[in-house]
Amino acid sequence: MNSWNEGYFTDSAYTFGYYRELSPAFMRWCLTLKGFAVPESSDDDCHCELGFGQGVSANIHAAATVGKFFGTDFNPAQAAGAQELAKASGADAKFFEDSFKEFSERDDLPKFDTIGFHGIWSWVSDENRKHMLEVARKHLKSGGVVYCSYNCLPGWAPAAPMRELLKLHDSYKVGGVLPPSA
Ligand SMILES: C[S@@+](CC[C@H](N)C(=O)[O-])C[C@H]1O[C@@H](n2cnc3c(N)ncnc32)[C@H](O)[C@@H]1O
Repeated sequence: MNSWNEGYFTDSAYTFGYYRELSPAFMRWCLTLKGFAVPESSDDDCHCELGFGQGVSANIHAAATVGKFFGTDFNPAQAAGAQELAKASGADAKFFEDSFKEFSERDDLPKFDTIGFHGIWSWVSDENRKHMLEVARKHLKSGGVVYCSYNCLPGWAPAAPMRELLKLHDSYKVGGVLPPSA
């Protein structure tokens, strides 16, 4: 794919949602409940969110958590909105407009204590999943935490047909013919 959105649907901007699962404090709490040792948080901590959407969660966590925040989302309007929010709050946050591939190739990033991606894994190509893992491989601190959500059955079953229908509609719109699997 040559276009910047690499086949990802970008005709309309993403919703403005907050997800506590992306909070470093919530990650620490879940790990503690499961009996894992978690280091104390400190001002030197660095956290990262891949595919932050409108940046609502990322900005709330940047404003309410000690440490520095980083993130990327390749949608220019969303990245600009997230940067504006960060400027308004004065939080220590750097939000980029990179694709996952571009972000994985950066050499100006610190090592992260947490890397979170919510609502991404089930919606991007295998190639992009590899780029996301490359970010973790290169930029996660030893002992750091990766949080990844994904759609699975049976919980996702009611919504799956609608997703398939929209995907078929998009293939039809682009190619003018239904794909062979339809
Ligand atoms: C389903 S949304 C989830 C947004 C947010 N994490 C949330 O849960 O509200 C997926 C986001 O990933 C971004 N995205 C998809 N593919 C990407 C890529 N290859 N590089 C960077 N961002 C990408 C999209 O622009 C979109 O904002």
